[in-house]
Amino acid sequence: MDEPSASGTVQAMPWSLKNPFQARLTARRGLTAPESAKDTQHIEIALGTDGPRYLAGDSLAVIPRNDAGLITKICGCIGASGDETVTAPAGGDSTLREVLATREITRISKDLVQLLADTCGDPAICSLFDPDNRKALAEFRSGRDLLDALREYPNVGWTPQLVTNVTGRLMPRLYSIASGPDAHPGEVHLTVGVVNWEAGGRARKGVCSSYLGRDLEIGDELQCYTHHAKNFKLPADPSTDVVMVGPGTGIAPFRAFLEQRQTTKATGRNWLLFGDQHRATDFLYHDELEAMQASGHLTRLDLAFSRDQEHKIYVQHRMAEHAAELWAWLEGGAHLYVCGDALRMAKDVDATLHQIAEQHGTMTPDQAIDWVKALKKAKRYQRDVYAV
Ligand SMILES: Cc1cc2nc3c(=O)[nH]c(=O)nc-3n(C[C@H](O)[C@H](O)[C@H](O)COP(=O)(O)OP(=O)(O)OC[C@H]3O[C@@H](n4cnc5c(N)ncnc54)[C@H](O)[C@@H]3O)c2cc1C
Ligand SMILES: NC(=O)c1ccc[n+]([C@@H]2O[C@H](COP(=O)([O-])OP(=O)(O)OC[C@H]3O[C@@H](n4cnc5c(N)ncnc54)[C@H](OP(=O)(O)O)[C@@H]3O)[C@@H](O)[C@H]2O)c1
Repeated sequence: MDEPSASGTVQAMPWSLKNPFQARLTARRGLTAPESAKDTQHIEIALGTDGPRYLAGDSLAVIPRNDAGLITKICGCIGASGDETVTAPAGGDSTLREVLATREITRISKDLVQLLADTCGDPAICSLFDPDNRKALAEFRSGRDLLDALREYPNVGWTPQLVTNVTGRLMPRLYSIASGPDAHPGEVHLTVGVVNWEAGGRARKGVCSSYLGRDLEIGDELQCYTHHAKNFKLPADPSTDVVMVGPGTGIAPFRAFLEQRQTTKATGRNWLLFGDQHRATDFLYHDELEAMQASGHLTRLDLAFSRDQEHKIYVQHRMAEHAAELWAWLEGGAHLYVCGDALRMAKDVDATLHQIAEQHGTMTPDQAIDWVKALKKAKRYQRDVYAV
């Protein structure tokens, strides 16, 4: 596979899941205030001159390591110190602690449930493997981590090697790159929403968002590689206008777009629609965005703070309020980009786009569907959306 370079030329890409780049965390700062319901962090990582390259719109794949405190609890639960030698699932000797740092321990594998079915003699667990019982198996697995399973089923006869054998593969996590490559050569920035919740009376942490947002220390090394987004790219013609819809962490690639268009002196207009819960605590990158607005680089900034009033105001409500102008931008050739939550926001933004086409393009619902399809086909409607 080829890799984009900041200058636009292409070179062989040596960095991948099998051969990740050893990068270094260089800076981190909170983007949300301490009183916020959220913890969103700006992360800076040094890639140096030899590291992976990227274009605005690409993502960074990060290979996390598990929380050391959780590993200690798991080891303690089976009476191990963590220093025991085990054969790692990929082969070769390792310690239990190192294996647990690099395998999936916050979810339980099918192999682990199979072991429970084989050893604990509970008919309810055996029935989880009936072909028509897939939902129950998924529910059993989603509500538990490895520590829960070890505590609930102590009679399995857990040993360090047995625990090692039933851990699944720890997958890398993708993050939309938040820096313009030409604005920050040799660096990559991310906007990470730290995931945490409570279950079974215990605090739970999202593996990679906690690793990046809390656990890594400045100067620590981490493994990563870039993921090239073929269908989330700035327009080739720098005079093209862009409309960016990115609430919450969906702002990330648009910081990259704005920086890149500023560095390369792109002449097209830039319109950003951003939203989050409260202006006072969750206005991510407000200083940078307000400076870009003041300088004229950010032509329009429309904000939707959902919880600053009785009724919810979301980005799609701002789209609808300014529909005539949005329609004029799109008719004038603007590209429309959406990033962030796939489950609710991206669907509602899409529905609003169809309504705007019906009202301002005087189209029937079917014509609006065809118009949006054509916009996508022309790569003028691009989305980078995800469900956490
Ligand atoms: C293309 C792409 C771009 C992305 N860009 C970004 C980005 O810019 N910024 C960003 O922050 N994220 C981004 N993500 C999401 C990111 O990849 C991770 O999914 C996210 O950080 C969570 O990973 P984690 O390892 O911290 O959590 P995990 O350890 O994977 O845990 C998440 C899981 O925890 C469980 N969970 C979470 N909350 C609860 C709850 N309240 N109750 C019960 N269970 C719960 C759910 O099962 C959920 O699936 C992106 C994803 C994709 C695919
Ligand atoms: N569990 C955790 O600790 C945790 C931490 C961070 C992120 N996450 C998850 O990560 C994903 C992204 O989180 P995020 O912080 O980037 O942003 P987010 O949760 O998507 O929220 C950003 C803004 O979008 C609003 N919103 C909610 N529903 C919407 C809809 N249908 N249309 C338009 N806007 C809508 C939110 O309002 P309201 O919230 O007022 O509805 C908020 O103002 C979400 O799925 C979130 O649940 C979880």
